Amino acid sequence: MRASFMGKALSRADKLTKDQLLSLFKELLASNERLEAALQSMFDGILVCNLDHVPVLINKSAERILRIQNPESQAPLWQSIADEELKDFFYKALTSEETILGEEFALQSSSGTRIIAISLSALLSEDKIAGTIIHVEDITEKRKKETQLRRAESLAALTTLAAGVAHEINNPLGSISIRIQLLEKLLKNPEPDQAAMTKHLSVVKQEMERLKQIVVDFLFAVRPMDVQLLSENPGPIIQEVADLVEPEAERFGIELKLSIPPDLPKLLMDKRLIKQALLNLIKNAMAVMPRGGKLGIIAELGQDELRISISDTGTGIPEELLTKIFEPYFTTKKSGTGLGLTITFKIIKEHSGDISLESKEGAGSIFTIHLPIPQKEKKSLPGWEDKATQAGSQAEE
Ligand SMILES: Nc1ncnc2c1ncn2[C@@H]1O[C@H](COP(=O)(O)OP(=O)(O)OP(=O)(O)O)[C@@H](O)[C@H]1O
Ligand SMILES: [Mg+2]
Repeated sequence: MRASFMGKALSRADKLTKDQLLSLFKELLASNERLEAALQSMFDGILVCNLDHVPVLINKSAERILRIQNPESQAPLWQSIADEELKDFFYKALTSEETILGEEFALQSSSGTRIIAISLSALLSEDKIAGTIIHVEDITEKRKKETQLRRAESLAALTTLAAGVAHEINNPLGSISIRIQLLEKLLKNPEPDQAAMTKHLSVVKQEMERLKQIVVDFLFAVRPMDVQLLSENPGPIIQEVADLVEPEAERFGIELKLSIPPDLPKLLMDKRLIKQALLNLIKNAMAVMPRGGKLGIIAELGQDELRISISDTGTGIPEELLTKIFEPYFTTKKSGTGLGLTITFKIIKEHSGDISLESKEGAGSIFTIHLPIPQKEKKSLPGWEDKATQAGSQAEE
């Protein structure tokens, strides 16, 4: 039975028969028991304090998590709490009548440290503050899972990287080893073939250079980037990149379709890095159109982002490779490093942007860079201010 209905029935109690009153009472009792059972079975702790901060309702989980010593006591809540830090917190939070969202505490218990999150808000009854409702959650397991997940993720990323480096290093090491064996063979001859030896040595030198480059590339891919975000006009930057690639496109019979809307808003960008990101995508696009095609460089203004898409009419990318291609060292090219897209992705992430990808095998691909537009209205939103001022102060440097 609904509370409002009960209220109405009760207001007419003097007009009800004894039987009617009895059934109303039974209904009330049943509804109360249901509420009580739900509250007591909850995994989270719930407490309600009256205006004097005395608990008028405490469920079992709250008792257990907060280790409330004397739940029936008529004293303010903090007096029933042993932990000094929590006692202090409840005293301050309840007397200041602040709303608190998920404040975290580490509590020592026999089973180790438990992390709990506590929220407080006003208890409203008929639009008036009638006390405080407190929500208590034991988030120890949740935190543990999050940490495990993060660890597993970084381990997986590291494994992929390490596997990539190992794979990359294998080829030059293999060829160095072969050349050394050949040199050894030659040296057994009292009059070794000088020309052959020089050739083997030059290959060894070359392969060592390749090893060095692998390490340099690797470090570039994993190191935090030195990003200088300045307020820049994106139009001329895109135009510059297009001018740079035009001669090569022409040579391959690739038709360039460039579109840059006028009066684009300024964005926080590292010009050099954005150019590099665009060039990487364009180089990939041109590589899949060796016998010509259409290369699109299209900038488009969205609500709160600038989209720059690089499209090709090349081979397209098979569905199962769509996420793999961003992995370090993934390449299908003979002389590719497989770091182009990894670096591009990293650059865009450093700009708080994103890359999306559409591709159809045999038809072509569209890589779209999404860059956020710093909007004045956005600055007033909580959480945004810090980012904007940080970026802004970097811009002023
Ligand atoms: N536009 C595209 N169309 C089809 N396949 C693509 C496209 N762009 C990337 N790929 C695939 O993704 C792989 C990885 O690209 P990435 O730029 O990371 O390295 P790469 O181009 O192979 O090497 P590098 O960038 O050093 O030349 C490519 O080898 C290719 O198989
Ligand atoms: Mg590439």
